[in-house]
Amino acid sequence: MGIFNKNRISYSDFSQIGIDLHSHVLPGMDDGSPSLGESLKMLREMERIGFRKIITTPHVISALYPNTKEQILGQVYHLQDIIRQEGIQLEVEASGEYHMDYEFLGKAQGGEVIPFGKKKYLLIELPFQKPAFSIEEILYQTQLLEYEPIIAHPERYVWLMGKMKLYKGLKDRGMFFQLNLNSLAGLYGFPVKVTANQLIDAGMIEFVGSDAHHTGHLLELPKVLYNKHFAKLIQSNKLLNSML
Ligand SMILES: [Fe+2]
Repeated sequence: MGIFNKNRISYSDFSQIGIDLHSHVLPGMDDGSPSLGESLKMLREMERIGFRKIITTPHVISALYPNTKEQILGQVYHLQDIIRQEGIQLEVEASGEYHMDYEFLGKAQGGEVIPFGKKKYLLIELPFQKPAFSIEEILYQTQLLEYEPIIAHPERYVWLMGKMKLYKGLKDRGMFFQLNLNSLAGLYGFPVKVTANQLIDAGMIEFVGSDAHHTGHLLELPKVLYNKHFAKLIQSNKLLNSML
């Protein structure tokens, strides 16, 4: 619900977003939650700040976090049982944050990935420094497999930051963009915040996510509710989170 001040709108919680599609809540799978206790704390906090559902996305990085489809689903089914016993109402599903590395396309071709939503979305993390291989080609091959790539936090890649022509090139190829909410609050630094604002101004953002790795990230989130660009994004009516 929006609250109208003199010349600014702020929001009381994240219920208008409804579904968070980027977080690291499954215990012990990556650099996110290290324990079941922390996971439960995170889930309670997500529920408290207005989310009704999350699609949690452990890192899938061949050299670092080689989480398989089977391991991710096994962990989330186990967590679903526990949150029911704990009385947590938040709905929890899982996919992955698929790093675009040398094994990604093979995983997509082999059905080793977990699509989500009504359109077979996949959350894809690009390399942070410009890679030697063609990102466009791999994204195109992913689309040919009838997946819909969502680029995770496009505002955070050093080689893309501030280069609106490159972002437009990705949009022209049909990519969806997921902004990290905490980018708007400056959590990842000033250049990332500026780029986040530019992407919103250009109408390029379809999804937002918490990218929460621990409760601390979630405690920072409510600052965003008073952010001018967050209000602009909500009012753009372009956000698809609640339709997942
Ligand atoms: Fe992430």
